[in-house]
Order: sequence, then C-alpha cells, then structure tokens
Amino acid sequence: MGRVELILTTNPGIEDIVAGEAAAKLAAELVEAREGHGRVVVRVDEDKLYLVEELRSIHRARLLLARGSVCAARSCLDEVYRLVLESGVEDYLTPDSSFAVRVTRAGSHEYTSLDIARVAGDAVIEAARRRRGFRPRVDLDYPSVIVAVDVVNEEAAVSIELGGDLSWHRRGYRIYDHPAALKPTLAYAMIMLSGAVDGDHIMDPMCGGGTVAVEAALTFESSPVTCMDKNPRHIRGAMMNAAAALVGSRIRFLVGDATRLSSYIDSVDVVVSNPPYGIRMGSPSKVRRVYEVFVDEAARVVRKRIAVITPEYGYFRRLLESRGWKVVHERRVAHGNLYPHIIVAEPG
Ligand SMILES: C[S@@+](CC[C@H](N)C(=O)[O-])C[C@H]1O[C@@H](n2cnc3c(N)ncnc32)[C@H](O)[C@@H]1O
Repeated sequence: MGRVELILTTNPGIEDIVAGEAAAKLAAELVEAREGHGRVVVRVDEDKLYLVEELRSIHRARLLLARGSVCAARSCLDEVYRLVLESGVEDYLTPDSSFAVRVTRAGSHEYTSLDIARVAGDAVIEAARRRRGFRPRVDLDYPSVIVAVDVVNEEAAVSIELGGDLSWHRRGYRIYDHPAALKPTLAYAMIMLSGAVDGDHIMDPMCGGGTVAVEAALTFESSPVTCMDKNPRHIRGAMMNAAAALVGSRIRFLVGDATRLSSYIDSVDVVVSNPPYGIRMGSPSKVRRVYEVFVDEAARVVRKRIAVITPEYGYFRRLLESRGWKVVHERRVAHGNLYPHIIVAEPG
C-alpha cells in the first residue's frame, strides 16, 4: 500500500480545521499548512483516498505528483516542462481521456500563466506518447482529467485535480442562493470551533439559506438542529437546500426574530450564526442594535457556547464581554473580499 500526498485547498484562515478533519477522517499526516494561504498538504494511504469526498472543510483536493523549483527567467519554462514530463502524469490518462492544464501562478516571472499552460500541455502529451504510446486529446471546456500546475515564486507543483472542475463546497445542496450566503466550509469550521459534539442541540437563529444548519445536520448524526430567520422567503429557501442535502427531516425550521429568541426556544446547547453585516442592512447602528438584543437573548437560552462570524468583531467582542460572556476563541478568516472574525464565547 503506497502513501500519496494531497494538496487540499480551503478558505484562508481555517487551514488547521482542514488538517484536523483530514487527520480524523483519512488518518492523514500533515506535511505543510501555510496559514492564511488556504492550502494544506497532507500524506495519506492510497486506500484512504476515496474518503476525500467526505471532507467538509475543503474547496478542492489534488493528488500531488511532483514538486520542484523553477527560476523566474523565461528559459526556466524548460524546468516546468521537465517537471511535468517526469511527474508520472501519463498514468492518469487513457487513449480515450481528454485533459486540460490549469495554472496558478503567483510571484514575479518573465513568463505568464499561458506560457506555463502551453509548455505543461506539451509535456503531458509527450509523457503519454513516450511511455504509453498514445496522444491524449486536449479539451479545455470539459476535460476528463485536469492537470494542475502551480508556480508560486520559485516553487512548482504538478497535481491531478480530484473531483473535476467544480469546487467541492459549491456542490450539491445550494439550490436556493441566499444573497449573503456563507461558504459551507466556513460554516463547518464554525461548528468545529464552537466545540459542539454529536447530540448537542445546534441552532442558527439568523440562518438565511440554512448553510450552518445543513452543515450541522451533515456533521452530527444525532444532533437536533434548528434554523430560524425572520424572512419567510429565506426559510423556504433553507428548506429547499436542506431537502437537496437529504437532511430536511433532521432540521426544525422557524420563521422568527432573533431579538426575541427566548420566546421561540427555552434552551439550546450551541448557537452558530452569521448575523447580518451592516453593509447590507444600510446602517451600522441598526445592525449593532440587533447584535445587542440578540446577545442578551442568547444569554437566556445558550447552555454551552455561541459562535458568530462578523466583520464588526471589535464591537461584537466588547459587547459579549460587557454582558459577561467569556470569549474563548477568535480568529480572522477570508470571506469573499471581507476579513470577518469568528468569535466563540461561553455564557458567563
Ligand atoms: C448573513 S445572512 C445569513 C446567511 C446564511 N448564513 C446563509 O449561508 O445563507 C443574515 C440573515 O439574518 C437574517 N436576519 C436579520 N435580522 C434578523 C432577526 N432579527 N431575526 C432573525 N433573522 C434575522 C436575514 O434575513 C438574513 O437571512
């Protein structure tokens, strides 16, 4: 049984969550995690590879074939060619398969991503011709095999995309697209950071399209999950998403106002939520008022912890502390072009 290396990509800020999930589900050994870069390299037994699909914290997974160094000069495109040629990429192609090269380039080089794609494509064709005796077909739109070539400063890596062109967090259940939807990978990370365990009652009282609720139901088999939003349209959307994720019957849906949380629910173990950002609500003072009343209401029902993601983190943290909550964790993550914080707190 061989060991292989995987490049797992994720949302910048939750690399440790990816490493932890890969260790737990794939018995993966961490090779490298660059914090803030959204990229984790792990080593796993080949016979565990099929379990990659179960990782909820990743965007993409790639099978690493070769790594090497390249210089910035144009002549160093030859090094990219050699790296791809010697990577063993031909083992993943058949005479019937088509392929495409996808390039990620960062840093300053005398060549472009298109130049890299061209030489890497030539090297893939040459590798298959030399060692397997066929010429693979290029199909940039619907390739059966995607060869990823990353050139970051002086480092180069060749890998095979597992799971095709679509980012895994976009798959599956997003039938209803909430205008301010959270990425499922971040929702999963928040659930993990909240310290929730299977069996805990988990609630998102401002659940929008239900991302947190769906991730909670997919993560924990026996946890009751409640998804509430004041907007009935979003609750209908959340029900559609949950049904598409096959967890519709596991989630209780409520139309209700989080600033009156205690009138809907007596107690809940963990609240995990992505409250509205002031940007969309028009006024920061309005959103702060919602936060204040919500925090006081949460104090009446939350037994274990609350985890929120907000770009108003300074304000939210001070608010929690002034109301007697103990902040037990805080971190910065990337979400679109914003850098909100995830804050986890326990009632005082
Ligand atoms: C940022 S969105 C949540 C998006 C959600 N995490 C998702 O992935 O779809 C915030 C949600 O809070 C809801 N909301 C705002 N004020 C609320 C309140 N007082 N009570 C309940 N829901 C509220 C909005 O309707 C909106 O759907």
